[in-house]
Amino acid sequence: MKTGYKNSKLPVFRRVEDLLGRMTRDEKLAQLHLIMNPLEEYEESKRMIRENGVGSFLLYRPVLHLKELNELQRIAAKESRLGIPVLHGRDVIHGFRTIFPIPLGLAATWDKAAIEKSCAIAAKEAMSAGVHWTFAPMVDIARDPRWGRIAESFGEDPYLCSILAAAAVFGIQGKTAKDLAGPEHILACAKHYIGYGAAEGGRDYNTAEISDNTLRNVYLPPFQAAIKAGAATVMAAFHDLNGEPVSGSRYLCTGLLKEECGFEGFIVSDAGSVYNMINQRVARDKSNAGRIAFNAGVDMEMVEGGSCFRNYLGEWIDKGVVSEERLDDAVGRILAVKFRAGLFENPYIDTGSAKRVFFTGYNRGQAKKIAAQSIVLLKNDRDALPLPVKLQKIAVVGPLADKRRALLGSWVLDQKEEDTQTISEAVARACPGAGVTTVSDLLQDDLFIRIKEADAVIAAVGEYHRRSGEHNNVSSLKLAAGQEELIERAALFGKPLVVVVFAGRPLDLSRISRYADALLYAWHPGSLGAAALADILFGKVNPQARCPVSFPSSTGQVPLHYSHKSWGKRKRPPRYLDSPTSPLYPFGYGLSYTRFSYSAIKATPSKIKPREKVTISAKVTNTGTRAGVETVQCYIQDCLTSLTRPARELKGFQKVRLKPGESKKVAFRLGFDELSFVGLDRVRKVEPGTFKAWIGGDSMAGLECEFEVIA
Ligand code: NOJ
Repeated sequence: MKTGYKNSKLPVFRRVEDLLGRMTRDEKLAQLHLIMNPLEEYEESKRMIRENGVGSFLLYRPVLHLKELNELQRIAAKESRLGIPVLHGRDVIHGFRTIFPIPLGLAATWDKAAIEKSCAIAAKEAMSAGVHWTFAPMVDIARDPRWGRIAESFGEDPYLCSILAAAAVFGIQGKTAKDLAGPEHILACAKHYIGYGAAEGGRDYNTAEISDNTLRNVYLPPFQAAIKAGAATVMAAFHDLNGEPVSGSRYLCTGLLKEECGFEGFIVSDAGSVYNMINQRVARDKSNAGRIAFNAGVDMEMVEGGSCFRNYLGEWIDKGVVSEERLDDAVGRILAVKFRAGLFENPYIDTGSAKRVFFTGYNRGQAKKIAAQSIVLLKNDRDALPLPVKLQKIAVVGPLADKRRALLGSWVLDQKEEDTQTISEAVARACPGAGVTTVSDLLQDDLFIRIKEADAVIAAVGEYHRRSGEHNNVSSLKLAAGQEELIERAALFGKPLVVVVFAGRPLDLSRISRYADALLYAWHPGSLGAAALADILFGKVNPQARCPVSFPSSTGQVPLHYSHKSWGKRKRPPRYLDSPTSPLYPFGYGLSYTRFSYSAIKATPSKIKPREKVTISAKVTNTGTRAGVETVQCYIQDCLTSLTRPARELKGFQKVRLKPGESKKVAFRLGFDELSFVGLDRVRKVEPGTFKAWIGGDSMAGLECEFEVIA
């Protein structure tokens, strides 16, 4: 029988205690280090493991070498003094070998089961390639589409983002301790704590200023939801918030996250966010950067090059500036995660498993289904879509008509590009009898000849994958040069014009929406995205996606979100002289090939006490001629509050499948969690008074009722 920490029957805290008691200080410091690219420094990596062990490796480059990874684990198990396994991390953001829509596209499904499924498939594929830990989900609230990382987010709304954050964690880690320790799930990392999406000017890594009140009511809930779902790790962001680098903030890392939110896992820095504090001029040198971040509560340092933790914390401990208790706390948190992941029991990769789990028929089927659920129908004048399959000639035009990689999104490492069809190929496959011509050049005479000959035109425009994601910000949300002109000119020929936009952010579609008969927003839809699009274009699938962000009608409107405050002066939206103030397409909006209507909204009971629940219900009817799925949404307003509160807040949504003519009653039960907010005293409360509630198909829903919360 194994003794001490090697005994998997013992509770994790006992194993941690036992192991900590056997470790030297250097072995402890080694656990705090996440080293990037072990395979590029293979011999050095082995040496480091043998010497004192290594906390974690970040497998950064595209190629994974399973044999080498197993050899590193063998050295950890057999040749390091205590046999502590190494954690292998990698960015598995929206799929591993099978690529799903970018997270913003996943959010457009408004379907937690779909998100859980996509994350579970990604986790299983990644695990079979030796990955134990992904740096996902990103749960930053994103309200400024100039910021390139909005693509990696679940959008603008704390409620939607929280539900989806929890679903992603369940998908990645599973729901039980057994799941997490098993061969199909890996560790999640909720990132980038906190307020990273509020970067000034939408410029990635930039300073953010967020009031404590907005931080707790808007930016914190998705992290709380991820933690409640069991997220084992959290990543401290690069930027500085309210005057402090997050990675050096004791208030944010220890006070708010660990003490108030009760986070028991470990905090990893973002890549170099500890030594970045030298650039931010709050740390004199690496040694001081290490001291500040570690005392703030960051437990593991992700770093390329020399570590501020591993190399310098020993001296600070000798001087009594960093305590032994803090060292044991951080190492204990890291070891506990390794135990929970089952790494001590199963450190090796089964080198044959990838073949069995990569890009299987099941995975492809799910990727196609979820991609179809993520594509938003923004406009469909005179039922231009679906297109009849019997068309003779289809012109697929625009710069993305024949592109593959652009359909996959900014952050994928392990896909095979050739698995992905172009939209033109998918259209040809869906309409075998039609002549499909493809012209991907902008404004060539040939293009207009093809359009003239065609029965229908599909224009594929938008952004290349490299135009969003980390560090890829834009100052204008207009389509890239030439694309608006292309659509405007194409419309002159009077052929049905369907515009498909691929993008990592909501773009300003105000000009092209005037010319397109139908407009589909496909985000970057993943490996099966083109096939999913073809199903929607030709009516095999009825679209059901909804905007997880507001679509601005000009760049100057951003940051833009539906849950703004009520306006003091004149009760009217603060205006622009040169632009509307409302979005082009609101949060929650999306069309279907059928239509839905709402009636009979009711709150029961009409009066409740602060800890009681109210049910808001309404009838939804499919008034069209096709079966379809409606995303029924429930919004509230707390009418009189001690602080200014949003004019509307999403508090529930449900997907309802309805046959033509069919009606269903949809009910939302709202209680303390939904009706409360955090006050200036940092206490969550429900304030007595009137509440309004709306049920409808988007954030502008007009069907309204009221209820009272009585003291
Ligand atoms: C920096 C990014 O901000 C973060 O999201 C990512 O997980 C790490 N690099 C590791 O690649």
